[in-house]
Amino acid sequence: MRILAAIGALAIVVAVAAAVFFFGGFFNVAGTKEDPAIVRWALVAVRTISINRHANDQPPANFNDSARVQAGAREYAKQGCVTCHGGPGANWAKFSEGLHPDPPDLKEHAEHLTPSQLFWVVKNGINMTGMPSFAMAGVKDNEIWSIVAFLKKLPSVSEADYKAWTVPPAAPGPAANPPGQKP
Ligand code: HEC
Repeated sequence: MRILAAIGALAIVVAVAAAVFFFGGFFNVAGTKEDPAIVRWALVAVRTISINRHANDQPPANFNDSARVQAGAREYAKQGCVTCHGGPGANWAKFSEGLHPDPPDLKEHAEHLTPSQLFWVVKNGINMTGMPSFAMAGVKDNEIWSIVAFLKKLPSVSEADYKAWTVPPAAPGPAANPPGQKP
């Protein structure tokens, strides 16, 4: 009985101390503060396990078509992935260096995730990080699969390929010759 009472008293002391720590403003929410190694390890482990459990959607049949990969490159540029993650020959925006955790280089990281896992991450985002849910941003599943097809090919996409695939279609200017007319 005495032991139980001691445990109860201890629990109350811990709860009061935690309340003072968090609601007294002592916990530091600054984005500049490095996480202790154990917290970093726990965040990565929980994220990995959670993504493994939730990622069940299978890629569409024409997943590897080059047309889809190129459409994915265009979506990648259009949806602003470059601002945080960078791309082949394209720099991330400076502000992304102020994000904590840091947006990873997808050329290396996308290799370690299956298409289903990449699809899930891009569709749903990663809570409490800067990674947005692109489903909430209005991007359709089919477009997300194209982005995933592009991510899987990233290590072999050259800067020239990326530039050619993402260049906006040229607007017909006054100098352009309409089809079927002589110069
Ligand atoms: C506002 C910045 C931001 C934008 C925009 C953004 N991301 Fe991210 N992304 C992040 C951050 C931060 C992480 C790291 C989350 C973490 O460490 O848990 C991340 C993680 C990821 C991961 C998981 C990598 C891994 O190893 O688990 C993938 C895949 C990814 N992003 C793809 C994309 C794609 C594709 C787009 C565009 C459709 C995009 N991101 C747009 C910030 C961003």
